[in-house]
Amino acid sequence: MSSFSKAGHLVSLLNKSDFKILKVFASSLKNRQVLNLTTLSQYSSLGQGLIEHHLERLVKFGLISKSNLGYTLLVTGLDIYVLKILSNKNIITALGPQVGIGKEAEVYLARDSSDQNRVLKMFRLGRSSFKQIKRKRDVNTAINSWLLLNIDTAKKEYDILTNLKDSSNSFPNPLCRSFHCIVMDAIYGNRLSDTENLNDPELVFDRIIDNITIAYHKGYINGDLNEYNILVDDDNVSILDWPQAVKIDAINADAVLTRDIQNITKYFSKKFGIEKDSHKIIGNVKRNASKT
Ligand SMILES: Nc1ncnc2c1ncn2[C@@H]1O[C@H](COP(=O)(O)OP(=O)(O)O)[C@@H](O)[C@H]1O
Ligand SMILES: [Mg+2]
Repeated sequence: MSSFSKAGHLVSLLNKSDFKILKVFASSLKNRQVLNLTTLSQYSSLGQGLIEHHLERLVKFGLISKSNLGYTLLVTGLDIYVLKILSNKNIITALGPQVGIGKEAEVYLARDSSDQNRVLKMFRLGRSSFKQIKRKRDVNTAINSWLLLNIDTAKKEYDILTNLKDSSNSFPNPLCRSFHCIVMDAIYGNRLSDTENLNDPELVFDRIIDNITIAYHKGYINGDLNEYNILVDDDNVSILDWPQAVKIDAINADAVLTRDIQNITKYFSKKFGIEKDSHKIIGNVKRNASKT
């Protein structure tokens, strides 16, 4: 079971006091790496005897860890806390299966109170490098800086998606962010990488370039544009995955745009036999973006 499906199950097992404690951990993440009994008791308003009982449960469930320095929040603990917030606010009422796993996130299907499909993108940045950090001595600090990195990355993608929101239907529509989780509308379609046949590959190609142009006009270059970050549904395209986007005035903007466009032209050439001049397209993107 991945850590997040475990989280879905655990939400129902935890009680009010357990969540009070998770809230203390989550709210102090930025300032404190490790919390001791006195601090936890003070901020949760639970007496020391009671709090020890709950901390033991949270350790047993794998939501926090205990060391001789004190207690530290683990990623499943933050997952659970986020799920609880989202369900209290009726932003999601049911959690579905995992629909995607990418380089930096796990993506889950969810429902809201009016039965609309949503997805939760839970950031899991640095999974492998974190394993190396974990081997080092300061495990507690490593865990929390890893959580903070994921929160910052979620915030970055959420802000970019919010800026792109009204410019096209081909970017994920962000609904809210909580810590390291972005809630978005679910997009239908398959990854371009999994799509063997397209009705009209030329049209799909043009739509991808049109949306790169729209994003460029809004000031962003995706920076990780490839067949895994594009969903296609008939001839409609969606371009996902924006946390690494660079601003068009960044020093490396031209290199990033060139790489993005070349990824797409090479892919369409190899897979669908469509030959395009990437340099011409790059010129068009810049020219058309300034006109739109
Ligand atoms: N809004 C969405 N609707 C449907 N599926 C999505 C959505 N966002 C992401 N996915 C799925 O999850 C996968 C990983 O998401 P992505 O944003 O690319 O994160 P990563 O940074 O981990 O690559 C995607 O390839 C896609 O299959
Ligand atoms: Mg991706």
